[in-house]
Amino acid sequence: MRDSSLATFVLVPFCCLAAAFTRAAEEVRPPEAQYQVAARRTRDGIGKIYFGREIAQVMGHQGADWLERPEREEEERTDLLIQALALEPGQVVADIGAGTGYFSWRMAQAVGPRGRVFAVEIQQEMLDLLMANMERRNVRAIVEPVLGTVQDPRLPAAAIDLILLVDVYHEFDFPYEMTRSLVAALKPGGRLVLVEYRGEDPAVPIKPLHKMTVAQVRKEMSIHALKLERVSAVLPRQHILVLRKHAGLATPAAARQ
Ligand SMILES: C[S@@+](CC[C@H](N)C(=O)[O-])C[C@H]1O[C@@H](n2cnc3c(N)ncnc32)[C@H](O)[C@@H]1O
Repeated sequence: MRDSSLATFVLVPFCCLAAAFTRAAEEVRPPEAQYQVAARRTRDGIGKIYFGREIAQVMGHQGADWLERPEREEEERTDLLIQALALEPGQVVADIGAGTGYFSWRMAQAVGPRGRVFAVEIQQEMLDLLMANMERRNVRAIVEPVLGTVQDPRLPAAAIDLILLVDVYHEFDFPYEMTRSLVAALKPGGRLVLVEYRGEDPAVPIKPLHKMTVAQVRKEMSIHALKLERVSAVLPRQHILVLRKHAGLATPAAARQ
């Protein structure tokens, strides 16, 4: 047998085996991330439990007007939220569960014509409203609508500087799969920003399953390759949780705090 044939004979199966092991390691799902069926489904829930939390029902496109209500800016200080993101011209960002695009066009203005905004939704009706909104706001060329699935936001890999999730994570039917895909879409060092109504505060006038506590978010994020960098209380009703994907953070285990 010639040297080159010997190398092929030995190295190719070894490489295949190594790739299979790597894939298997990536697929290992922590036991605490399993889904359970609720003994009783809550009115606003889907009867599926994740980390002890019942997942909320998705807000239908019929409620789109509520997202665009004129008093929203004052009630939620959405201007402060946009400021807190500290976006820069030319950045590539994503708005997950973008709804009518309330934040998409504001993000588009911040990243400018050299930047890009992926606006991801699972309801085509929302994307139709969103694109009409982007036309009106003159940012159509910057915003790319993406029809995702409940498990996959269909974003390019390692391409995004910042991913924003406003009032949507608690609605994910598959939070484990979605978060894993979002982390894969972030550039090393990229930020995942979760904005959720404060679950610790009974005075926040939102249904319980549509709120989250910081402790709950911490638990659910601890199994992903993310580090919780900052929790901001600058908004009147919501937490802003900033998580960062570190350059050297290859495995979820390495991200545990
Ligand atoms: C309460 S709305 C918030 C909309 C927007 N973020 C805002 O604050 O104006 C939640 C949106 O998330 C969308 N959604 C739910 N699960 C999703 C998923 N897995 N991927 C993408 N969008 C999702 C719903 O269709 C709904 O339009």
